[in-house]
Amino acid sequence: MSSFLRPLAYRHRWIYDSVTTVSSLSVGGVKRLRGLGLEALQHRLEPDALILDLCCGSGEAAAPWIAAGFRVVGLDISPRALDLAAQRHPTMQRVEGLAENPPLLESSFAAIQLSVALHEFPRPDREQVLKSCLRLLQPGGWLVLVDLHPAGPLMRLPQQLFCALFETDTATAMLEDNLPSQLQELGFATVTQELLAGRALQRITAQRA
Ligand SMILES: C[S@@+](CC[C@H](N)C(=O)[O-])C[C@H]1O[C@@H](n2cnc3c(N)ncnc32)[C@H](O)[C@@H]1O
Repeated sequence: MSSFLRPLAYRHRWIYDSVTTVSSLSVGGVKRLRGLGLEALQHRLEPDALILDLCCGSGEAAAPWIAAGFRVVGLDISPRALDLAAQRHPTMQRVEGLAENPPLLESSFAAIQLSVALHEFPRPDREQVLKSCLRLLQPGGWLVLVDLHPAGPLMRLPQQLFCALFETDTATAMLEDNLPSQLQELGFATVTQELLAGRALQRITAQRA
């Protein structure tokens, strides 16, 4: 279930961008939000490593990786989002497909980014997405995941409002789950969680052993 605002935000870019601008203030602005994945992993990767931006949307969170010189493949289910990504990053390889079963070679990526996308998936599909990440990462490769986390007292009300207006039940369900434990159960190693934006956001890094 979600409010009428969610489809509107996906249809009209300015609504999506405005919501992102406001909700990212708590983490230091849109640029910081988009750069959280790169910030966490850059020092662990070779300069021209191959990165998968899973559920890349229109390529906002791929931008810092491309600017830093990494080779990026963006996968999304939405052809419209991929067209926008193509306009933004003509050199980025784009793949239309399901994150639950990406049409990509196993062990081919040095890192995978999942930027504010995992909450879109129901629990069983979420597990499928994370298993796909494990399959697509090279041994020793890194996953970075940025997504919602149950907020602390200061951000609780804004987060509840945001979820009620723009998210579906899958986001609320994810807030009840412990993602670091799930990653460990699926076989990821070196799982580290950081809480940001008054605990409303989590950044998790995890490695394929
Ligand atoms: C909230 S947007 C995040 C986009 C981008 N990662 C960012 O940081 O701006 C979620 C994206 O997930 C994509 N998506 C949803 N379900 C998907 C699926 N099953 N497979 C691939 N992409 C999917 C949507 O099309 C959308 O572009």
